[in-house]
Amino acid sequence: MIKKTVPLSSPDIGEEEVRAVEQVLRSSILSIGPKVQEFEKLVSEYSGLRYCVAVNSGTSALMLIMKAAGVTVGDRYLTTPFSFVTSSNILLYEGAEPVFVDIDPLTFNMDVRQLEQRYAEDPAKETIKGIVGVDVFAQPLDWDPILDFTQKTGLKVIEDSCEALGSSYKGKNCGSFGSAGAFAFYPNKQMTTGEGGVVVTDDEEIYQLCRSMRNQGRGVAENWLEHVRLGYNFRMDELNAALGIEQVKKLDHFIVKRNAVAERYAKLFSGVSGVRTPVVETYTTRISWFVYVVMLDEGIDRDGIIGYLQERGIQSRNYFAPIHLQPFYKERFGYREGMLPITENVTKRTLAIPFYNNLTIEDQEYVVHTLKEGIERFS
Ligand SMILES: Cc1ncc(COP(=O)(O)O)c(C=O)c1O
Repeated sequence: MIKKTVPLSSPDIGEEEVRAVEQVLRSSILSIGPKVQEFEKLVSEYSGLRYCVAVNSGTSALMLIMKAAGVTVGDRYLTTPFSFVTSSNILLYEGAEPVFVDIDPLTFNMDVRQLEQRYAEDPAKETIKGIVGVDVFAQPLDWDPILDFTQKTGLKVIEDSCEALGSSYKGKNCGSFGSAGAFAFYPNKQMTTGEGGVVVTDDEEIYQLCRSMRNQGRGVAENWLEHVRLGYNFRMDELNAALGIEQVKKLDHFIVKRNAVAERYAKLFSGVSGVRTPVVETYTTRISWFVYVVMLDEGIDRDGIIGYLQERGIQSRNYFAPIHLQPFYKERFGYREGMLPITENVTKRTLAIPFYNNLTIEDQEYVVHTLKEGIERFS
């Protein structure tokens, strides 16, 4: 039955990347070397923020930001249940807790009105110290009203921009709305380092703290056996950085390609009933397209469609699963189905379909055609 295979994502790796990684291998400097420094400089320039600290994952980047922000035991932070689990786990690592706010069904981002209402109604407001805002699928949050709200209430702003490198809100880059931003470079992202991530910030104190914590708590002088604070080994190595340097140089070109793929999908889906393509808000001045997630009409068996596509060689995924209904969140916090109805409804209907820089028109036509058949069969 399988005519061809179309993966969900695929990194765009050229000869430049292969040569750059090979050069590092031949240099024998595999860690703590010039490539990480060069990568940091390029990402800092790209993001428009003064400082960059390269680490071994987006999760590590966010962990450092939480520690630098002084998040601590008993703190509660308003955040979205519609995200990758990390954006909430980073609170648990510090002994803090998420306070989930339901989402806007069009943008899939945290709903600003519900954010204000959830805060206003909270019986233990004084324990809410801030928000963790996530730019989901590279669509920026509606930051202006959120920042008005946090200024009014004195709440801290943590931005999880792991999916949004290259996106901007009213001309301002994602990653720049809190005291520091984080980007992630797993191979399904807009650009990759294999595994990897960065912290970006304009704040020198946060920068120095994150540098030290990533490197076993060493001080500014980086003496090997002097540890001025509790630190970790979150370092990115030279191989990942060499790959990242070549990728970030191509990032604008990658984003042009991603926009072209998204536009083609939008055209191919026009007139197909039962499916809604992603909405790009007018305040989104640039979207770098992390994934391409469509929403099926109520009543269509989404999981049946995933199986139908799989049998025909097309990879797809339910994106996301609600964080509050993850088994260990349910067990620990007592969350139950029905508590965040919009998120729960959306997560039953969303579907990520193949999306990457070099997805061909023929493969996109095949995906749309097969999805249309699936919708007819599973409605
Ligand atoms: C919103 C969000 N936050 C954090 C992360 C964590 O990044 P990593 O997988 O590099 O640790 C991801 C990764 O996909 C993500 O999508």
